[in-house]
Amino acid sequence: MKVGVFDSGIGGLSVANAIRAELPDLDVHFVNDTQNVPYGSKSPEQLHELVLPILKSMQADGCQVIVIACNTVTTTIISKLREELSIPLVAVEPMVKPAAEMTQSKTIAVCATPTTLASPRYNELKRDYAEGVTVLEPDCSQWSAMIEDNDVNQDVITEQIESVCEQGADVIVLGCTHYHWIEDEIKQVADKYNVKVIQPEAALVAQLRKVLAQLP
Ligand code: DGL
Repeated sequence: MKVGVFDSGIGGLSVANAIRAELPDLDVHFVNDTQNVPYGSKSPEQLHELVLPILKSMQADGCQVIVIACNTVTTTIISKLREELSIPLVAVEPMVKPAAEMTQSKTIAVCATPTTLASPRYNELKRDYAEGVTVLEPDCSQWSAMIEDNDVNQDVITEQIESVCEQGADVIVLGCTHYHWIEDEIKQVADKYNVKVIQPEAALVAQLRKVLAQLP
């Protein structure tokens, strides 16, 4: 069974690795858009123009399911893509609901790209699941480029993470798959404040298992 994993860049590789580790019998086909990464500040129209042909070619290559391992794409255009493609799309999105259920301090932080934070879907998640919870959104706008360029700067990470911890967040959501690669650097700071850091790989693998089980 061939399963595609798509992202703008190396964030999706972290997800593909998690799927390969949990479901070793699958043929995992990872595709990223090296020409146009990062996606984090692109408009929904630009994203659609870039992503649709790539997903179509993954389907033509034999992928029976595609995991969209990109919060920026899913929070902006997933409904449209689902209408346009005839195979199941498994989608990641910021874990606002679990974070809102976990928080004791009633303050969470979501680290995500500017386009994700501006998207209707993300704002719907906040409205539906985080009522009465303060949602901090630190400036991570340069993080995917920093990770793509292999130029991770601990000071940049520390500044943003310390700031949300000091404002009372007790759960930090990694709402961009690129940040999975700097989870250790984020935790290094968050741990000092006893703040939890959550990311969606386990939930995505579980969702993929469900979708595979339902295939004809
Ligand atoms: N990894 C993607 C996400 O989850 C996109 C990052 C980017 O290309 O800026 O949002």
